[in-house]
Parts: sequence; C-alpha cells; structure tokens
Amino acid sequence: MKRILVTGGTGYIGSHTIIELFKKDYEIDILDNLFNSKITVLDKIEEISGKRPNFYEIDLLEYEKMRELFRDNKYDLVIHFAGLKAVGESVEKPLLYYENNVGGTINLLKCMKEFGVNKIIFSSSATVYGEQPTPKLDETMPTGVGITNPYGETKHIIEEILKDVAESDPEFSAVILRYFNPIGNHPSGLIGEDPNDIPNNLMPIIMKVSRGEIKELSVYGDDYDTVDGSGVRDYIHVVDLAKGHVAVIDKMKPGVLIYNLGTGKGTSVFQMIKAFEEASGEKLPYKVTERRPGDLAEIYADSSKAEKELGWKAELNVDDAMRDTLNYLNNL
Ligand code: NAD
Ligand code: UFG
Repeated sequence: MKRILVTGGTGYIGSHTIIELFKKDYEIDILDNLFNSKITVLDKIEEISGKRPNFYEIDLLEYEKMRELFRDNKYDLVIHFAGLKAVGESVEKPLLYYENNVGGTINLLKCMKEFGVNKIIFSSSATVYGEQPTPKLDETMPTGVGITNPYGETKHIIEEILKDVAESDPEFSAVILRYFNPIGNHPSGLIGEDPNDIPNNLMPIIMKVSRGEIKELSVYGDDYDTVDGSGVRDYIHVVDLAKGHVAVIDKMKPGVLIYNLGTGKGTSVFQMIKAFEEASGEKLPYKVTERRPGDLAEIYADSSKAEKELGWKAELNVDDAMRDTLNYLNNL
C-alpha cells in the first residue's frame, strides 16, 4: 500500500487518474484550492470506484498550511497536477502564472525535501518542445526554444527545476509526463472537463457549441500544410492518460524520467468535427477564421519510449472520446 498526495486531484486529469489509482489500492489524499474544480467530484469518484479520497482545501501558495499537511501525513509519492492552464489568460496575466505554477511547485518541493518525500510525477506538456523541424516529437529533442506563451514557459521552467533538484539530491526521483491533447472522460459520464472553464481548447469549445452556448466553432486556419489544411494534434483519451501515471509508479528510480503521453497519431480539426458529428448525429456549426497566433501546424507524439519502458500505450481513439464526451454532456 502506498500513500499518494495528488495535487490538483479534483481537476479534470487528476480525478481520472485517481480512479485508475484506486484500482491498484493506493491511498489517496487530494490537495486542491478548488479554483478550477468542484468538491462534488469527490462524490463522483466514490460513485465510480467505491472509494473516497481524503481532501484538503489548500493552495500551493499557502506554504505554512502545506508544511502542516506534510508534517501530519507521510507520503510515499506526490503526483503534481495542480496549476493554471489557460494559455490565453497566461499571456494577459504572466505573473499570476509564474507565481502559481512555478512558485507553487517550489513550495511543494520544499515541503517534500523538509519532510523526506522524494518521489514526484509532474504534469508537463508537449508545449515544452516549442518549434521543431518535424511534427513527430520525441523525448530526446531539445526543449524550451520557441515556446509562445507564459503557461508553456512555466512547464519548461518546472522541468528544469526538477532536473536541478535531482542533480542535487541522489535520492530524488522525478517523472516528467509530457501530455499531448487530453480529451474525453470516464465512460460513466459522471466526471469530465468542467465546461465552465475558460474555453481555449478545441474539445471544450466543441462541447459548448453543441450545447448552444457558443454559436459556432471557429476553425483557426485551413491553409496549413496538413492533410486538409487545418491544424493537426495528437488527441489522447484522458482514461489512457490516467493509466500512464499508474504505469510509471513502479518504474520510478532516482534521477529524472521523461515520457511523452500521446497516441502517436495526428487528427485534424476538420476530422475532429466529423468525428463529433458522426457520434452525435448532429451538425456542428463552424466557420474558418484566421490562424491563431502561436499555433503550430501539426504535432504528434512519438510514443514508443513509454510503450517500450512502461508497457503503456493508448488503447482508445477519438471516436471513443467523442462517445464518452456525449455521455458526459447528456449528464450535465
Ligand atoms: P484542471 O484545471 O482541471 O486541474 C487543475 C487543478 O489544480 C484544479 O482543480 C485547480 O483548482 C487546481 N489548482 C490550480 N492552482 C492551484 C493552487 N495554487 N493550489 C491548489 N490547487 C490548484 O486542469 P487539468 O486539465 O486537469 O490539468 C492538470 C495538469 O495537467 C495541469 O498542470 C496542466 O497544466 C497539465 N496539462 C493539461 C493539459 C490539458 O490540455 N488539459 C495538457 C498538458 C498539460
Ligand atoms: N482550434 C480551433 N478552434 C478553436 C480551438 C482550437 O481551430 O476554437 C484548433 C487549434 O488551432 C489547434 C487544435 O484546434 O490546431 C487544438 O487546439 P487546442 O487549443 O485544443 O490545443 P493546442 O494543441 O493548441 O494546445 C494544447 C494545450 C496547451 C499546450 C499545447 C501543447 O491546450 O496547454 O497543447 O502542445 F501547451
């Protein structure tokens, strides 16, 4: 039995990961300030898995409260999801993003050091690759060049901090998971991405269009050098993503391990629209607009390292994600 502290555990990816962790009998404490999630997620996790995580409403920036938590509880591992993630907002409020994401992570790492917790799994992003000469991204590529927003910079900086801490402490183990584009939700439809988020990302916007809350989807450019001119991304079902975290726990060792979590397959915006229309049987209104500044034409994961070393690979596809998304939408 291992006791795990999950920061950001009431959020979208955190809650799905906890459901997978509970299948393995881990004991879970959540730390979250509920800035972008709801406490009712705990009931849903319990409904799905028959177990309820302990919950602490603490902000990563409340250093003394964090110290108390670590003083009173002995953790074997921290899985660190908590952070702000709205790319557009990070351009408008860079200090908020650096303070919350980088400052919050430093507080967490200081508490871990003080109370002898030396294992962490961190939610990073494909954004750290910046611009690369090829669309298929693998973990050996350099990072940190051509990142176009403060949110992405926070992910890169935190990765560098984790490498430095591992360098300074021979017992410290960090896993950096670089997520591609998470979509979908648990097949029960009970939990999912909170549609009250500031929608920046394609799937939450498609969900809002389908609910009539947004008139139409803007397709950001149809003149890229891609299969049909629209942007191509590697959309990974969040349940597969969650399983990736479970797969890595037993492989942890001192130092830093880095894995892409993606499917290895790119899907265009037009293909996403078509997949949604086929799953829902409804037309999704859209119009083609200008390219969004900072967007890349096409990226997808080389996911072979995770497959080889963790025995993990994505099993669900975009159609599964669309079906599960509709199930969630119908439950709202
Ligand atoms: P989310 O917003 O649903 O979950 C993040 C959680 O962190 C929320 O519950 C929020 O309340 C909490 N939080 C934020 N700041 C906090 C603070 N200072 N103290 C305590 N709690 C705080 O987001 P998600 O989609 O589940 O993302 C989880 C992680 O994965 C984030 O670090 C995100 O940057 C990263 N990530 C997400 C995506 C994506 O597309 N969803 C892609 C790549 C990486
Ligand atoms: N798109 C549209 N219309 C929209 C929203 C998105 O056409 O209203 C297109 C984008 O141009 C892109 C694709 O849909 O081609 C996916 O866009 P998202 O905003 O959903 O995802 P991104 O790949 O641009 O960004 C995501 C995360 C970031 C992360 C980045 C790393 O949101 O946090 O992946 O690659 F930094």
